[in-house]
Amino acid sequence: MSPSTARRRVAVIGTGAIVSGSHLPALRHHADRVELVAAVDVDQARLDAFRELAGEDVAGYTSAGDMLDAVRPDLVLIGTPPWLHREQTVTALKAGAWVLCEKPLCLSLAEYDDIAAAEEASGVYASAVFQHRYGSGAVHARELITSGELGAPLVAHCQTTWHRDAAYFAVPWRGRWATEGGGPTMGHGIHQFDLLLHLLGPWAEIRAMAARLVHDTESEDVSTALVRFENGALATVVNSVLSPHEVSRIRIDCADATVELTHLYGNRNDDWVYTPAPHVPSERVTAWRTPAADVPSSHTAQLGTLLDAYDNGVRPPGSGPDARATLAFAAALYKAAFTGSPVLAGEISPGDPFYQAMHGDHPHWALKERA
Ligand SMILES: NC(=O)c1ccc[n+]([C@@H]2O[C@H](COP(=O)([O-])OP(=O)(O)OC[C@H]3O[C@@H](n4cnc5c(N)ncnc54)[C@H](O)[C@@H]3O)[C@@H](O)[C@H]2O)c1
Repeated sequence: MSPSTARRRVAVIGTGAIVSGSHLPALRHHADRVELVAAVDVDQARLDAFRELAGEDVAGYTSAGDMLDAVRPDLVLIGTPPWLHREQTVTALKAGAWVLCEKPLCLSLAEYDDIAAAEEASGVYASAVFQHRYGSGAVHARELITSGELGAPLVAHCQTTWHRDAAYFAVPWRGRWATEGGGPTMGHGIHQFDLLLHLLGPWAEIRAMAARLVHDTESEDVSTALVRFENGALATVVNSVLSPHEVSRIRIDCADATVELTHLYGNRNDDWVYTPAPHVPSERVTAWRTPAADVPSSHTAQLGTLLDAYDNGVRPPGSGPDARATLAFAAALYKAAFTGSPVLAGEISPGDPFYQAMHGDHPHWALKERA
């Protein structure tokens, strides 16, 4: 095997729900390209259960630092609670490993800039998991929109209306600024607005509201926003964990067609619907509705694109400015909601309280103590 096609040695940090349920199947799918060599968890019982599940000769560690020193993996997958992501990502980058880290990649723009500095110093890359970008339906929709095939994007809706109960928020790291970084904006709707940004490109201005209506959390349990994109399109964004009828939706009205994605936690081609404007000939419409393949959005699809980038030695999708843009959108949404003023793209820089933390030290939001 030449170095460019050797199996990459992979370690996981955190062996809980997302690593066992989504990263492990992705590693198995790409078994010809990766070898799971080590797993880390501070909870020995979870670590043991994961190693049993992985069914391979996977070395177990309770310290990420010890694992990195001993194993020197090519790629590290991080699935720990969000407050650990920055530190573990920076440590893995410094050890020379590429990183694919669960969302949110970190808790603030300040933390992101630490990761960017570690990338710069080490020459390796950190990507955030946003699996919905990588299914064939999203790839196809993005090609159609960015090539201009659907006409100018004009109006968009981005809806994450999910439901989470009190037991969900009883897990200590959830609903707290210092450990989760925010509420449904940072933890749930971030998937959908990451995809909206991926489809529509840079935004220019945001106005927003947030509320804590049901849950005993520090952060919000619902937020809404109005967004103007650089291309002129106007969008609404809703991030809720209060919605009994759960659905994830994106709708984009372009001059020649409406594109609609309706799903919950993942999508495939049939979840994308194209409705042509009356003047559009049917041959064009047929091409819109037929992507070349049907690849479900998944950790498997994202891992495949990351391994392609690794093999080619290029920056992987979902890293660098791309990863920062999604966090910058979340920070701007919080700033607009908590200050009541519009926020322009790029205005949150070092010195701005919303650069350091998503609550921006706002007295009503930053100081709420959990009962
Ligand atoms: N991409 C998605 O669709 C998706 C879905 C669910 C969760 N997530 C994200 O995945 C992450 C983990 O969520 P989860 O639901 O799997 O949580 P979880 O609690 O099930 O798993 C987290 C694991 O990390 C371990 N851990 C804690 N501290 C550690 C440390 N210092 N070193 C090593 N291991 C440590 C815990 O013991 C636990 O096993 C979160 O960031 C969450 O937002 C992403």
